[in-house]
Amino acid sequence: MYQTILTSIENGICIITINRPDKLNALNATVFTELDKAIDEVYHNPEIKTAIITGAGQKAFVAGADITEFGGLDKEQAMALAKRGQDVFFKIENSKKPIVAAVNGFALGGGCELAMACHFRLCSENAKFGQPEVNLGLIPGYGGTQRLTQLVGKGKSMELQMTAHLADAQEALQMGLVNHVTTSESLLDRTKEILGIIQTKAPVAIGKIIECVNVAVVSDSAYTNGKSGFDKEVEAFGDCFITEDMKEGTTAFLEKRKADFKGR
Ligand code: COA
Repeated sequence: MYQTILTSIENGICIITINRPDKLNALNATVFTELDKAIDEVYHNPEIKTAIITGAGQKAFVAGADITEFGGLDKEQAMALAKRGQDVFFKIENSKKPIVAAVNGFALGGGCELAMACHFRLCSENAKFGQPEVNLGLIPGYGGTQRLTQLVGKGKSMELQMTAHLADAQEALQMGLVNHVTTSESLLDRTKEILGIIQTKAPVAIGKIIECVNVAVVSDSAYTNGKSGFDKEVEAFGDCFITEDMKEGTTAFLEKRKADFKGR
């Protein structure tokens, strides 16, 4: 069905693999079109509860935007390219179903930006993160200037972008860019294990956590609908209160049994 990505569904987890290993999974226009479709599937397929984005092969998660597509673009075309990338990554970030990056090697430029658009990240010991666009006379264009700053703070973000330094897995862990470092062999299993835990929780509440946390880190008022994160939290708390899952969760606690959430 797809040319540049692979998808599979296993125990409610959709695994999306960027699959151009000979080009270190660089993001070209086809990858963006297909990733966009795959995320739509995550949004709309009730069989999918959570998702993982990873890269094919042992070497790279994604080594950036496909540089071969940069040649000859004028300013308007370059802006459209950045906007297209940002829109797909916003779709990932705003998914009500958790989408986690399993970073299995180089996550450079657009690859680092893709990982940062996911709700959180795990990586293998051989992972390398960086925004090396300055080496090409460029800056990050798929949200990297914003999300890197949100994740690691202003000073670190400035230094990483200005020096094009590639951070290894331990450095990424220390900076808060990833939550866990694993061996290459156990990366997917550990990611699935965490998503398995999340899948036992109330889906509506999980979606509301994503919405509220996103408002906390995004200052663009168009994106936040003019609401503060605190206002958003009050509203989302109220929304959760009238779900069947809230009744089930509180009843199960009082009856000393495990809750059986339905996502309603
Ligand atoms: N866009 C297009 N092609 C890319 C790419 C990218 N971002 N990153 C890697 N590739 C291609 C290479 O051109 C090469 O293709 P070829 O075999 O047809 O020549 C193939 O992937 C393997 O990469 P190679 O550079 O030979 O591997 P390496 O192990 O020597 O180096 C990297 C690995 C990641 C350090 C190096 O590929 C690199 O610096 N990539 C670009 C990173 C970057 O600047 N990303 C930001 C883009 S905005």
